[in-house]
Amino acid sequence: MTHVAPEHPAYLWHNHHLLNWEDATGHLTDNWWASVGAVFEGIRGYLNEAEGETYIFRLDAHLARLSNSMRLMRMDCDSFPQDELRQATCELVRANGVAGDVYIMPLAYATGGRSFGAVGERVTNLFITSRPTTSTLGQEDHSLRAGFSSWTRIGDRSMPPRVKAIANYRNSQLASHEAALNGYDTALLLNHEGKVAEGPGSCVFFARDGRLFTPDLTSGILESITRDSVIQIARHVLGIAVEERPVDRTEAYLADEAFFCGTAAEVTPISSIDHYDLKAGAPGPITRELRQLYHGLVRGVNHHFPEWRAPVGLTGQPLAATRTATRVPW
Ligand SMILES: Cc1ncc(COP(=O)(O)O)c(C=O)c1O
Repeated sequence: MTHVAPEHPAYLWHNHHLLNWEDATGHLTDNWWASVGAVFEGIRGYLNEAEGETYIFRLDAHLARLSNSMRLMRMDCDSFPQDELRQATCELVRANGVAGDVYIMPLAYATGGRSFGAVGERVTNLFITSRPTTSTLGQEDHSLRAGFSSWTRIGDRSMPPRVKAIANYRNSQLASHEAALNGYDTALLLNHEGKVAEGPGSCVFFARDGRLFTPDLTSGILESITRDSVIQIARHVLGIAVEERPVDRTEAYLADEAFFCGTAAEVTPISSIDHYDLKAGAPGPITRELRQLYHGLVRGVNHHFPEWRAPVGLTGQPLAATRTATRVPW
C-alpha cells in the first residue's frame, strides 16, 4: 500500500517563529488541559485577482478579539503583542505562497502546571496556521435549511459565549450533529431565556417588512465580527434599519428572510426554519444585496470600509515558498 502524505502548508508560525510544518511538534501530554482552555480565531483572506493581492478581512478586529479571549482565560497576552501577530499573519500567508483565498487560524493555549493549578504556573503558547480555502460567495443557489436544536446555547453563567473558546464548541458540535441526524443542514440554538441565540458557528439575522433584526450581544452569542460588518453595511451603505434585541422563536418562523453570517459562513441565506419556508425565498432581496456587497467588500472590489482590509503584501513581492530555513527568527 502506498502512503500518501497529507497535504499541508509549508509553514506555520509558533511562539514568535516561522516554522516548517513538520517541525511544529509538541509533547503528547500537552494535548490534555491545554485544549480545554484554548482560544482561537477564524480569519479569512480573499484574493483580489485584478490586483494580485490577498486582503485579510478585519484582521485587527480578530486580533483584538483573540486578545480578549486570552484575557478571559487568564493567559499572558503581553507576550504576543498585536503588532507582532499582525506581521506574523501576513508573513505566514506570504510564506505559504497561496494565490487564492485563505483561512487563517491563530490558536492560543497554556501548557505546564497542574490541571486546576495557579494561573502563574502555566506558559502561554500561540500558533497560527494559514490554509487555502474556498468561498460560497457568488454561488447564487447556496442556502441552508435550519432546525432549532434541543440543546441550549451556552450562557454567561457557566461558559463565556462572547469569546472564541475551543470548549464552547462542544455545545456547537452537539447541536450540529443533532441537526444533521434530523435531516437539517444546520442548527439554530435558543439561549437560556428561550430567545434565539445563533447557529453552531455563525450569527443569524432576520428581515421583516424591510427591516433587519438580530439577537443582541447579551443573548449568549459570540461577539461576531461579520455580524458587526453586516450591521454597518446595512445601516451605512444600504440605509436599512437594524435592530439588535432579544428575538423570539416564532419571529424566526414569520420572518420574510433570514441568513447566517460569520467568517466561515460568510453571508449564507436560510431557506427554511423547522420546515417553515421563509416567505421571500432564499436568498430574499435584502440577503442577496448584502451578500453581493459583502463579497465585493472582502475582495476589495467594492471600496467601502478600506480599513477592514489588510493587504498581505503579495503584490510585487517574490513568494517565499522556496525559502529553506527551518526556523526563521521573527
Ligand atoms: C459560535 C459562533 N458564532 C458566531 C460566529 C461568527 O463570528 P465571526 O463573524 O467573528 O466569524 C462564529 C464564527 O466563528 C462562531 O463560531
